[in-house]
Amino acid sequence: MDSRQNDLASALVEHVEIGVIILDSDLRIQYWNRFISQCSGKSLQQARQQPLTSVFPEADTPHLSKMLARARDHGEHVNTQWRENPYLIHLPFNASGQAVPLMLQSTLLFPFHSLDEQLCFGLLLYDTTELARSNEQLDAALNALSGKQIEQDQLIKKLEKANAQLLQSEKLAAIGQLAAGVAHEINNPIGYVFSNLKTLAGYVHDLLRIIDAVDGAADLDELRQLKRSMEYDYIRSDVEALIGESEDGIERVKKIITSLKDFSHIEEDEFRQADLHRGLDTTLNVVNNELKYKAEVIKEYGELPEVECMPSQINQVIMNLLINAAHAIEQFGRITLRSGHEGDWVWLEVEDTGQGIAPHLLNRIYEPFFTTKPVGKGTGLGLSLSYNIIRKHNGRIEVFSTPGEGTRFRVWLPVLQPAEQLTMEDTGHYE
Ligand SMILES: Nc1ncnc2c1ncn2[C@@H]1O[C@H](COP(=O)(O)OP(=O)(O)OP(=O)(O)O)[C@@H](O)[C@H]1O
Ligand SMILES: [Mg+2]
Repeated sequence: MDSRQNDLASALVEHVEIGVIILDSDLRIQYWNRFISQCSGKSLQQARQQPLTSVFPEADTPHLSKMLARARDHGEHVNTQWRENPYLIHLPFNASGQAVPLMLQSTLLFPFHSLDEQLCFGLLLYDTTELARSNEQLDAALNALSGKQIEQDQLIKKLEKANAQLLQSEKLAAIGQLAAGVAHEINNPIGYVFSNLKTLAGYVHDLLRIIDAVDGAADLDELRQLKRSMEYDYIRSDVEALIGESEDGIERVKKIITSLKDFSHIEEDEFRQADLHRGLDTTLNVVNNELKYKAEVIKEYGELPEVECMPSQINQVIMNLLINAAHAIEQFGRITLRSGHEGDWVWLEVEDTGQGIAPHLLNRIYEPFFTTKPVGKGTGLGLSLSYNIIRKHNGRIEVFSTPGEGTRFRVWLPVLQPAEQLTMEDTGHYE
């Protein structure tokens, strides 16, 4: 370096607002810049050739020894942050000469060789009080944020719990509603089977009278007379009709009971391979009473493979869609139930010829408690719960609606659940 460069370098070091201290290999002070004089209130003249730790006794710490060992033995540049140590040497003033209660410092200690090959140490020292202060604010903000995060996590847990409870109570409400419908459905066949039995009992009574008369009758004519008077021919044909009708009635009751049993596996909460058409039929049987006065139900089933799902929950979704469809129809309409299969996906569709959904409401229908039904009629939970069930199945639900013409809901389900989700569930970490 020529002398001009030297001058420039010295001027720079004198003006920079960073402390610069040069120590010899025995840690005696060789030089410090104006920043150090200013901030320490000490004179370089007096400090020169003195050990650093006698000029600044507070620096005599294990921390400094460690820094030195690393710089000396490994030739490393050693940084310290204000976070680790409030200060290395005590500087009671700042660069503008104002007294400061506590200057926080970051330091850099590094070894170098002087022109005459002597080992020296450079010690640079930055005032990081301001930085630390803004960091404190950042820390506080971070803390507040993580507090909020925890609050949110708790809130989400609460919501999940409430959602599970809602799901449960919605199931119960649905079952209550269904029970009424089913009672009505069963009542009808039971009613006529009962009245048929009564008529049959009368017929049996009459027939027994004819048979009993066989023993006491004088001749065949008397028996024939009795048979005629009892309208035997009519009894005979009616008995057959009554028995046939009663068998049909009992068959119908049996079907409803089986469907109910299928449908009410509400506790079962496991994915398994299931025949979705069977689920659709079961659900149709169960909600038949809600539908039959509102719509003709048309089935257009495609070919479906078995699908990995929680069948009772899928039934629940279809039930919600069917009941919504029936509610949307004012007089009498048509509800079409379709299914299909595309690659790794299957779909189920419920289409109605009801009033439709206004376009501006389409993105609200899955919101919990969103309902356009009168108070006491709808809870607004049907679609929100259905949406959650389908999401849990890694599927999706689509809606197409034309006001005044009708609505079509289509549920897409993957034939198989993704493998990693099952593992997550197995380990109990799935939501
Ligand atoms: N098929 C449909 N046709 C027309 N509107 C529909 C249909 N399905 C849903 N909607 C609209 O979406 C709203 C929300 O439906 P959702 O099933 O979530 O609640 P809800 O039927 O009102 O009450 P809940 O099902 O809890 O008894 C309904 O109030 C209705 O406005
Ligand atoms: Mg509904």
